[in-house]
Amino acid sequence: MAEPFDSRRVRAEAYRDYVGLQLRFAEALADRGDLSLGEALRRYTSLHRRLGLGNVTADPPGPDWTLFAKRLEEAPDTQARLDWIVTTLAAAPDEQPQPNQVRFGCFSYEPPQDGVLRIHFTNRDSEGGAGPLALSKAAIRRSELSRMFDHVRRLEPEAKIVAGASWLYHVQAYRRLYPPDYTATATPAGEMNLTGNSSWGQFLTHGGAIRPALSAEFLAGLAKLDPQAPWLAFPLRPLRVSAPLAVFTAHFSLG
Ligand SMILES: CC(C)(COP(=O)(O)OP(=O)(O)OC[C@H]1O[C@@H](n2cnc3c(N)ncnc32)[C@H](O)[C@@H]1OP(=O)(O)O)[C@@H](O)C(=O)NCCC(=O)NCCS
Repeated sequence: MAEPFDSRRVRAEAYRDYVGLQLRFAEALADRGDLSLGEALRRYTSLHRRLGLGNVTADPPGPDWTLFAKRLEEAPDTQARLDWIVTTLAAAPDEQPQPNQVRFGCFSYEPPQDGVLRIHFTNRDSEGGAGPLALSKAAIRRSELSRMFDHVRRLEPEAKIVAGASWLYHVQAYRRLYPPDYTATATPAGEMNLTGNSSWGQFLTHGGAIRPALSAEFLAGLAKLDPQAPWLAFPLRPLRVSAPLAVFTAHFSLG
């Protein structure tokens, strides 16, 4: 009898190459530094979030991660470890939305801290067809941004500065969505947290496949990975950008 169609398994398999890249990175870190493989994977990849376990904190790992990591470290080789990750991913609960983040389509923001409002991009495009940054979808993306900044203008009086940090600011199809005075401030970010998409996202296409040339460049560089500065291993180093909120309200003709 045919096995029942398991859409979670299919979705997890679609990300096999992506999580494989993250595994190879963690293996290289564990080989060179003083972290176990489980800890390298928890602290320097997005897997903890992808498994529905939420943000990585300085606290010791919880029981679900501990069990997962134990079996991972018992696996004999990379292939067996990857099979275990994909199996766990297929059985995992849905990824939790980031606490406190307010979403507008593909964009979201964190409540302002010290006047600074941090913004993010996640592919939540529901139109199908072309990718979310295609020219044919630029008007939809701009209207999401416009709604978000209108909301911020009215309901977040503490917000004075808008800030972002992502590999995506290298991509013209992304930059064109924003006011030029914002993207013109792009400067290379220093130390980066690697537990989300601000660096890892560069390897993904909107369908979940990986970009072969960029991934090959990354894997070749792992031989020289510096465990003290693992964020330097990424071909597209994230850029930091910022501008006053007024730049956005003027750009989107709000208020
Ligand atoms: C962003 C994302 C949807 C891009 O995937 P995609 O399949 O390239 O999507 P699109 O087709 O919409 O991309 C549009 C454009 O970006 C360009 N692009 C995307 N990734 C690129 C990369 N790594 N290097 C250069 N250009 C890139 C594409 O070439 C395309 O440009 P074009 O229309 O001028 O040809 C995908 O990488 C993703 O979902 N990443 C995870 C989210 C993320 O990284 N968020 C950042 C969190 S801070």
